[in-house]
Amino acid sequence: MTDFPARRAQMVERQLRRRGIGDERVLAAMAAAPREAFLDRRQQRRAYADSALPIGAEQTISQPWIVAAICQALALGGGERVLEIGTGSGYSTYLLSRLAAAVVSIERHAELAATARAALDSLAVDNVELLVGDGSLGVPDREPFDAIAVHAAAPAPPPALVAQLADGGRMVVPVAGAEADTLVLLIEEVVVSSRANVGVLSLSAVGAIMRAPEFVLAPALVDTAAYFRSLGFLTAGAWAAIPRGRNGEVGNIGEWRRMKRRL
Ligand SMILES: C[S@@+](CC[C@H](N)C(=O)[O-])C[C@H]1O[C@@H](n2cnc3c(N)ncnc32)[C@H](O)[C@@H]1O
Repeated sequence: MTDFPARRAQMVERQLRRRGIGDERVLAAMAAAPREAFLDRRQQRRAYADSALPIGAEQTISQPWIVAAICQALALGGGERVLEIGTGSGYSTYLLSRLAAAVVSIERHAELAATARAALDSLAVDNVELLVGDGSLGVPDREPFDAIAVHAAAPAPPPALVAQLADGGRMVVPVAGAEADTLVLLIEEVVVSSRANVGVLSLSAVGAIMRAPEFVLAPALVDTAAYFRSLGFLTAGAWAAIPRGRNGEVGNIGEWRRMKRRL
């Protein structure tokens, strides 16, 4: 019999606290979240491994550190309405549901959404609404959201999501870079954006993301345009037109808004 609580406690100490996760609410939520409940039997013994794991539909449950880093960056106090893109297994959805008041989560694969719903129901979660569809469009009739968590890489914060962010809200989105030979190198920065500005998380976060198996690409996937299309986010043409800073960084939200009007 696997000792899940002990492994979970070890994960929190070794994978999270020692690697820069300091938000005690996030650490407590991670310490109480049964990751095994979001995996099928064959994967459960690896539930607290420092990696993403397969969940079907060629998708993965996020690495615990990634989920914690995203939750920490969102700085949730407990009263927020959160939009999540990429429900996947429902693990990160569960964490968000413990840290905020209500969560709307969108997954493009119906079978994953169904499995996630069952897992969340088994844990008596009653503040999560799961939708099936293209999350890059957000849920316009439900805006604004105080926080938006995106779990799939995008070339830049998707404009529709920026538009649905409440004033003072926060969005975390893994942003892929423009010039690289492999997609591993395309994961350039994690951008925390608000309506007022765009900031970049610490470089240690970038390093961890590059190591995350979910972002390690098969050689066949080095075509960036195909990758972005497969994510359902912006087309490569739109990506190329995004205003860039001197060092290639994605511009501020003001530039984004102007960009959006031109699209
Ligand atoms: C790395 S997985 C993360 C899953 C989830 N955070 C978890 O812990 O299980 C990314 C998920 O985002 C979903 N996804 C990718 N692009 C999407 C889009 N445009 N709309 C909705 N879901 C999307 C994928 O199908 C996948 O399930």
